[in-house]
Amino acid sequence: MSVNKKFNFKLFTRLLNYVKPYKVNFIFLTVAAILISVFSILNQYLLKIAVDTYITPKDYEGLILVISLMFGVLIFQVTFQFLFVFLANILGQKVVYDIRIKLFSRIIKFKMSYYDKSSVGRLVTRAVNDMETIASIFSQGLFMIVADLILMFSVLAVMIFLSLKLSLIIFAILPFILIATRLFQRAMKVAFNDVRNEVANLNSFVQERISGIKEIQIFNREKIENEKFIKINEKHKNAWLKTVWYNSIFFPIAEISTSITIGLLVWYGGGLVGLGQSSITLGTIFLFIQLSQMLYRPLRQIADKFNTLQMGMVAANRVFKILDNSEFIKDEGKLKPDIIDGNVSFKKIEFSYDSKNQVFKDFNLNIKAGEKVAIVGSTGSGKTTIVNLLLRFYELDKGEILIDGKNIKEMSIGLLRSNISLVSQNIFLFADSIYNNIVLYNKKISINKVVEAAKKIGIHNFITKLPNSYNYNVKERGIMLSEGQKQLISFLRAYVNEPSILILDEATSSIDSKTEKLIQYATSKIIENKTSIIIAHRLSTILNSDKIILLDKGKIKEIGTHDELLKIDNGYYKKLFELQFQKEELVT
Ligand SMILES: Nc1ncnc2c1ncn2[C@@H]1O[C@H](COP(=O)(O)OP(=O)(O)OP(=O)(O)O)[C@@H](O)[C@H]1O
Ligand SMILES: [Mg+2]
Repeated sequence: MSVNKKFNFKLFTRLLNYVKPYKVNFIFLTVAAILISVFSILNQYLLKIAVDTYITPKDYEGLILVISLMFGVLIFQVTFQFLFVFLANILGQKVVYDIRIKLFSRIIKFKMSYYDKSSVGRLVTRAVNDMETIASIFSQGLFMIVADLILMFSVLAVMIFLSLKLSLIIFAILPFILIATRLFQRAMKVAFNDVRNEVANLNSFVQERISGIKEIQIFNREKIENEKFIKINEKHKNAWLKTVWYNSIFFPIAEISTSITIGLLVWYGGGLVGLGQSSITLGTIFLFIQLSQMLYRPLRQIADKFNTLQMGMVAANRVFKILDNSEFIKDEGKLKPDIIDGNVSFKKIEFSYDSKNQVFKDFNLNIKAGEKVAIVGSTGSGKTTIVNLLLRFYELDKGEILIDGKNIKEMSIGLLRSNISLVSQNIFLFADSIYNNIVLYNKKISINKVVEAAKKIGIHNFITKLPNSYNYNVKERGIMLSEGQKQLISFLRAYVNEPSILILDEATSSIDSKTEKLIQYATSKIIENKTSIIIAHRLSTILNSDKIILLDKGKIKEIGTHDELLKIDNGYYKKLFELQFQKEELVT
């Protein structure tokens, strides 16, 4: 990603909008910043008075008084410093808290094609790491810069007021520090941007490998994945080392400038004091040495803080891009039918996932209410795609899908989906109890209802045999359950929602005959009295269906009952049946 040369004010104002709700915090911060400057300069000024008025004339009583006063001022100064750091961090976290909630609510609302092209790792980086970077704008960047600027301008004003001659020494050195700072800041900006990218790369990589851990281990890819990781890690390290390199050069340069300034002040100022010329006293020289430190120190660090600010802005830019993204499925339907009978028609559908490889061209299909339809066909023929379209996970390119004669776009997506239950090909369970995985925090479905439903579809016994029964935590992605068990749980999940239309995308993985029996029974129960579309891989489901649809490359080749289709000479279904199922029949 290229780094913007200019400071993006529009982005900055947008970010500041998030500070608005915390106005009081903001005002306190500004007041604290001003008071810190006042007290720290006052303290140094008291030092000058101590030297000139009490130390030189040897008035020790007065000296004690001034030192006590300095101590008092110091207490105020550190109190405000504490408040400043505390409030700035709180503000940062509050702002990020608000943005993160907005971001997450968006991240889970996009249409499927958005996720198809986004890497999970990157989205995680946006929601976690980038957010921290945005927080640091407030905790380490913005207000610190403002406070530093207030301090530096106050110091400059005091210097000029006290002695123009000594101020000129400082002004002579200042440009060198400014130039060095500027160069440093530019280099760091590029370096930090690289660091961010490498962090996102690391996140994506680790995330994906952990998701695909079985594939890695079964194919013995550990060594190769390790090597890949080493390369990414190396890039990450190098990106960081660059920043270390710039830091190591910059700070000695800044140190030399400070020392030269002190040297010049002592040499030139000391000469003036010795000659007894002008109003410059020993105290003034002390004060100038201190003030020059107060000027240079923030100046050195301001580069760092600007970087923090820039990094935060880069992160904010990425996060706002997601917030501005409106790749949602249009959800404008107002229709609220009381009952859905479940007549489904696909009319002249055209669809492609990527606008290149068309999956459907003039696809038509009618399913009557209560009908049980089995869809069979080779892999990649478009079976799952039919489901994706009916559930509006993807938008049609052309044509329309009707439920009970009404375009599904006329219904809200929520209503549409609440009337259709899906048992998908790849079952996903959350790291939660079986009960929560079934009801998905829908408060309307009580545990009694779940138990009753489980009994009806014949899986109650299987669940109660698990440790903790319905409260069994299946862990991330349902890792604690077998594939067959996960399927049974997802059957129940679909069933308790009492949909009008049930879709079952049968998994191809084979399971033991006991579970197979449970699944067959559960399947027959969940489709009872419902329009059901079953993408079938089991002979039993096919035989139990009212009509079979044979899909090939996005086209319906044959349609009819099992017996009808077997009668077609050289028919697709006949071939499929002979190849795939007749064997199965012999076994069972
Ligand atoms: N998210 C996606 N992005 C791009 N192309 C996709 C996507 N999902 C599926 N496809 C493509 O669309 C076509 C139909 O896929 P679909 O998943 O509908 O097949 P299927 O009939 O369900 O196959 P299977 O029996 O293997 O599940 C395939 O060519 C596939 O490559
Ligand atoms: Mg599929």
